[in-house]
Amino acid sequence: MDLFHDWFAQLKQMTLPDWFELNAMTLSTVGVPQGARNEPFSPHLEGPSSRVVLLKGMDKFGFIFFTNYDSAKAKQMAKQPAVALHFYWPMCDRQVRVEGLATKTSAEISDAYFKARPRSSQLGAIASPQSDIVEDENLLERTISELEKKYEGAPIARPSNWGGYQITPSLMEFWQGKPSRLHDRFRYTKLDSDPNETAADRWKIDRLAP
Ligand SMILES: Cc1cc2nc3c(=O)[nH]c(=O)nc-3n(C[C@H](O)[C@H](O)[C@H](O)COP(=O)(O)O)c2cc1C
Repeated sequence: MDLFHDWFAQLKQMTLPDWFELNAMTLSTVGVPQGARNEPFSPHLEGPSSRVVLLKGMDKFGFIFFTNYDSAKAKQMAKQPAVALHFYWPMCDRQVRVEGLATKTSAEISDAYFKARPRSSQLGAIASPQSDIVEDENLLERTISELEKKYEGAPIARPSNWGGYQITPSLMEFWQGKPSRLHDRFRYTKLDSDPNETAADRWKIDRLAP
């Protein structure tokens, strides 16, 4: 996490276009085996699935993002909490791969972030049944207008189906491109913590062939 913090801090010092979302990361989840083994494999339900989410917090324990707890990704994480995150920063020829476990953040963390969001985003979180099929494209807008009236002048509480996830890494790989094409790859694999050691985390570091 220290190295990730360093790389992130270096990116923040670069001059980047306004539209570039530095904290965008790809979250990959996996489906769960369906039915009996002799039934045909269903790539949609059982295969991996990726989408971009925004990194909204990080500490020594991992990475935090926020989403809808009824979304497709949330359903996959509920059954199979092993996920991967991926960052690609072409402006410095770097990528970071993370593999770890997803757990929901505390209600306090989700509440604090929800409170800090613009009202339009708060209403959007309530109105949008993320990942569901939309039969009527006007329905979402109608729902938002109704919610605007309902909450006029009043604070909006976080809906219980919206909140954060924390990804606690068990593997991280830092990739630095080099003009020689012999790129650097460093893989950090978390080892079981030794109860007799004062440092909570022990990691094995390997250099990998590019
Ligand atoms: C730049 C960018 C940032 C996004 N940030 C988020 C986010 O922080 N949380 C979120 O739920 N969806 C975010 N999305 C939308 C997701 O990519 C995705 O469409 C949505 O979460 C539904 O995914 P699912 O159906 O696999 O659950 C973002 C999309 C883009 C392109």
